[in-house]
Amino acid sequence: MTTPEPGEVLIEATAIQQRISELGAAISADYVELERPLFLVGVLRGSMVFLADLCRHISVDVEVDFMSISSYGAGVDSGGAVRILKDLDEEIATRHVLIVEDIVDTGLTIGCLLDRLQSRRPASLRVCTLLDKPARRRRQVALAYSGFAIEDQFVVGYGMDFAQRFRNLPHVAVLRDGG
Ligand code: PRP
Repeated sequence: MTTPEPGEVLIEATAIQQRISELGAAISADYVELERPLFLVGVLRGSMVFLADLCRHISVDVEVDFMSISSYGAGVDSGGAVRILKDLDEEIATRHVLIVEDIVDTGLTIGCLLDRLQSRRPASLRVCTLLDKPARRRRQVALAYSGFAIEDQFVVGYGMDFAQRFRNLPHVAVLRDGG
């Protein structure tokens, strides 16, 4: 029996950091006129590394809050419904909210999260994802900011895990059979 492990490096750490500086500059320009801080929502656990780096490249005032959600499964029946394990600590009504995700795959998780948060009447609600896997999409969602589009490969590192491991890699790697 073999244990999967990180294989080929798909996105080098330096390329990630370069792209994040571009995303941060774009976000900073788009939200420069806000009267209140931009409200960043990190979706635990995968987005923690990306959010930590991204927020340091945003020059406008920000607040940071986190949600933890559990998927009911990606089956047709669930429709991607999510259960909130940890909700935001703050109210988002009338706030400009930017959800920060590590990866959008089928789109079911972020789609459901958008529905849930939109019902709280934010002033605006957008998504920033580091990775986008469009080939797997089952629900179309608008991604205001996207770092890299990738092929349909299982990736780990830079916050993303396999069985809770490899989140601490500074780069994104393709998972391969350990052999
Ligand atoms: C990942 C990722 C997204 C979701 C994307 O989370 O962070 O939330 O999957 O998949 P989808 O577009 O097909 O819905 P995961 O469930 O792996 O949890 P984690 O963030 O704790 O690693």
